[in-house]
Amino acid sequence: MSSAEHHDPRLAQKEAAGRHAATYVEDGMRVGLGTGSTVHWTIVALGERRLDIACTATSTQTEQLARSLGLQVVPPDDLGRLDVGIDGADEVDPDFNLTKGGGGALTREKIVGQMCERWIVVVDEHKLVDQLGDFGTPLEILPFAPGVVASRVEALGASSVSIRPGGSDNGNLLADARFGLIDDPRGLAASLDAIPGVVEHGIFLGEMVERVVVAGDGGVHELVNDR
Ligand code: 5RP
Repeated sequence: MSSAEHHDPRLAQKEAAGRHAATYVEDGMRVGLGTGSTVHWTIVALGERRLDIACTATSTQTEQLARSLGLQVVPPDDLGRLDVGIDGADEVDPDFNLTKGGGGALTREKIVGQMCERWIVVVDEHKLVDQLGDFGTPLEILPFAPGVVASRVEALGASSVSIRPGGSDNGNLLADARFGLIDDPRGLAASLDAIPGVVEHGIFLGEMVERVVVAGDGGVHELVNDR
């Protein structure tokens, strides 16, 4: 499907943002591929350009898509550092902090994002928020003691922690914690990092982000993070 065929304007925005970000990739680069319906279009655009690049993928879904389009996909350890990574987000706040993990790939996404010299986020304008939290905070949890882990998360202020059906590509559980609006994303991220059994959480701090490509009614623009 191309943008001309989208009946929902938001889907056209996802395609516009995803395709725009693909212009940051050049021949010979090592590239991190995120997961989701926006970065989907980045991957499609990279496949169309027939670039000679080495990619690493943040989910089996992305790996399959990239391979089906002729892109080379290798494990992260084969590449070490990445020149550029492109990924979606569920929420972006004014300090470039993100909520991620709506698609359940948060752990691999954080690993791959932190491998990137330049990490670029692609969103439609509905993802821009004043404060993180409305979306919920995705968690990947070790299946060993999910009830214990959930009560520790609730002790940090979550009104609920709901386990999703299915699991992650890593064989763990996925859950969503509801903290309401989050006043201190950095503090909450540190507290979640300290809970044994929380494999990863979906708060990505702004210093990871080089720029956000935003597509809206008026077209595509970029928010550049002067870290
Ligand atoms: C997957 C993610 C996605 O990047 C996020 O959910 C945004 O997805 P989409 O582009 O489909 O709206 O974090 O774990």
